[in-house]
Amino acid sequence: MSGANALPEPPLPRTRAASIYAVASGKGGVGKTWLSTMLSIAFGRSGQRVLLVDCDLGLANVDVQLGVRPTADVHSVVRGFLELDAAVTPVMGGPGRNGGFDLIAGHSGSGALGAVKLEDVARIATGLTKLAPHYDRIILDLAAGIDPNVLRFARAAERLVLVTTEEPTALTDAYAMVKLLRLQGASVVPWVIVNMAENRHKGRRVFDQFAMACNEYLGFKPKFAGAICRDPRVPDSIRAQTPLPIRHPQSQAYEDVIRIVEVLNAG
Ligand SMILES: Nc1ncnc2c1ncn2[C@@H]1O[C@H](COP(=O)(O)OP(=O)(O)O)[C@@H](O)[C@H]1O
Ligand SMILES: [Mg+2]
Repeated sequence: MSGANALPEPPLPRTRAASIYAVASGKGGVGKTWLSTMLSIAFGRSGQRVLLVDCDLGLANVDVQLGVRPTADVHSVVRGFLELDAAVTPVMGGPGRNGGFDLIAGHSGSGALGAVKLEDVARIATGLTKLAPHYDRIILDLAAGIDPNVLRFARAAERLVLVTTEEPTALTDAYAMVKLLRLQGASVVPWVIVNMAENRHKGRRVFDQFAMACNEYLGFKPKFAGAICRDPRVPDSIRAQTPLPIRHPQSQAYEDVIRIVEVLNAG
């Protein structure tokens, strides 16, 4: 019998380690951080144990968007004070069907990502491999730009989710990111998400153009994960520091996220 005071059992290691997704874009402000948290919630609600890692080591904001106050963050790991598993903060009750998940927070205002050394990224990557058997999905929210550390985190993941908007600057930066990764020998075929689309149809057309350019100049076809409509409920929920599906149980943007999770789960 499990009494009220019984300690929760630690989850058993999975027989298959988590798939690691890097959420990247090149350009900032396209919605990577917001999307990373929504994917974590939606994967959680589909019955998967999720770990979200804020890899924007200079300007972290997963915790700010969610209104959580982590007691430890990835910088304690980088400085060698903590092992990665000790830096985990449960969000919304931790992994479970209510959409909770585990978070390894970044650290705002700590200076540039450039200050983080290659060994630090390697240490985090090794820590993730150790944590992977405890989760079904690990999501890395990457910083903007195509800094060597951003590319290292992207290469540490087996799956790449490339976020863009319909704007030519976002598309050019997404293209630059995937081109650099492939020049570095990564054979990853990215899943592409068109965020803040006017409508899903237009988002799909933007993807088709992007895919054509990748096919013609880089010799591969990216995969379409889906489009997310521009939705005023998104900035509203961020201002309220409350996850979108909690603040607004019905919203176009979160419905679009659910579709994307179905596509990712199937692929
Ligand atoms: N689907 C959307 N509809 C409306 N606004 C959005 C949407 N996605 C993101 N945003 C807005 O874009 C801003 C930037 O998002 P953020 O996740 O911080 O981008 P990034 O991590 O790529 O820099 C958010 O503060 C949010 O207000
Ligand atoms: Mg961000």
